[in-house]
Amino acid sequence: MPGRSRKLVVEGGEKIIDFNIKAFKSAPESGITDAVEAMRDGMMYRYQHKDKTNSHVSLFEREFAEHLGTNYALGVNSCGAAMFIALNLAGVKTGDKVLSNAFTFTAVPSAIHHIRATPVFVESTDEWGLSAIDLERKVVESGAKVLLMSYMRGHVPNMDAVMEVVRKHDLFFIEDCAHAYMTYWDGIPLGNFGHIACFSTQSSKGLSSGEGGILCTNDQTLAAKALLYAGSYEGRWDRHHGMDPQMMSDLQNHIPGYSMRMSEITGAILRPQIPRLAEIRKIHRSNHQYLESLIGQHPNLNIPKPHPKADYFCDTMQFHTVDLTLQKAESFVQLMIQEGLGVQIFGSGRNARDFREWKYLNGAEQVNLPETVQNIESAVDLSLQPHLGHSEMDIIAQVIIDILDYINNG
Ligand SMILES: Cc1ncc(COP(=O)(O)O)c(C=O)c1O
Repeated sequence: MPGRSRKLVVEGGEKIIDFNIKAFKSAPESGITDAVEAMRDGMMYRYQHKDKTNSHVSLFEREFAEHLGTNYALGVNSCGAAMFIALNLAGVKTGDKVLSNAFTFTAVPSAIHHIRATPVFVESTDEWGLSAIDLERKVVESGAKVLLMSYMRGHVPNMDAVMEVVRKHDLFFIEDCAHAYMTYWDGIPLGNFGHIACFSTQSSKGLSSGEGGILCTNDQTLAAKALLYAGSYEGRWDRHHGMDPQMMSDLQNHIPGYSMRMSEITGAILRPQIPRLAEIRKIHRSNHQYLESLIGQHPNLNIPKPHPKADYFCDTMQFHTVDLTLQKAESFVQLMIQEGLGVQIFGSGRNARDFREWKYLNGAEQVNLPETVQNIESAVDLSLQPHLGHSEMDIIAQVIIDILDYINNG
């Protein structure tokens, strides 16, 4: 590796980062126009439209279902809400056990807590996917019948092995696809493997609307119940696509409505983002590949290879630090932040993705998960939003290499 190219900020040098690595995507102009019109007309509530073909949310639902290849999609107000509804649909009751990744974002165990169930945490692999081996072990040990699995930061476990466990034990499988837009296993888009898939449209995600979520399924009964849980009432199911009148009439008022609907403003700014996802994916993949070519061989960094059957969206990059103590890795993060590159280590600094920090679980977080601890304590997380290009990747790589040189040689 070449030596240091310049003085770092900590040594009195000038910052060379002149871009915001974390700036989120803006909404397409046509979406802004539609959202403003909805506000001007006072048509911000999805069920104000008597006809589903006039509602941005209803149209978004149909378009997203087509994009993913599922029969139904339901717009809700967050992925957390979608997961909570999914757990209700799975029949989870107070005190039940729900299998889930130990390495995920706090919103996931929080959804399990929301339904007053207890998570059973499963280990992760060094490529940050769920360990199918530990999943099988935990299914047998706990007797849990529901799996809520995150593709954390878009990382995909060996889905053949996971699906074997799901089928063998007849698990109800909920996919948390918050980070898994246009991510594939063996050519099949994630979101098509479980009974239900949940997506987030919070601003750091592939589709971005500040807040929002989507619940997808192929099962009509699950879709029918989901829209009632989200807060459809008094026959307003007729403003959703593909519902059966008799089924809806039978279900109406038997299911609580948790007021988790998506607003027309959100629907309006999301619709035109679906067709631009493929272009954004290309930018992400190109940046990711290029940055990997610049830093991937550094002796202090390890960027694990995805499974050959997996095909990623690549909107963020994670790498393991190698031969750096946790203290040195933490100083790497601090120096990166000083240089203008906001990065984090999942397993340090009270991070919301560190299961040991989920104190609201009252002890359920105090489990022994050595592989996950090892994987999150060495994992550096870098956001790569699509306004960045190869010239920014050159600068990011230079800063990373310089900081590592400083840490190693002073
Ligand atoms: C893996 C994962 N799942 C679920 C969520 C929850 O998404 P939302 O904020 O839309 O509820 C997040 C949020 O960042 C996440 O990272």
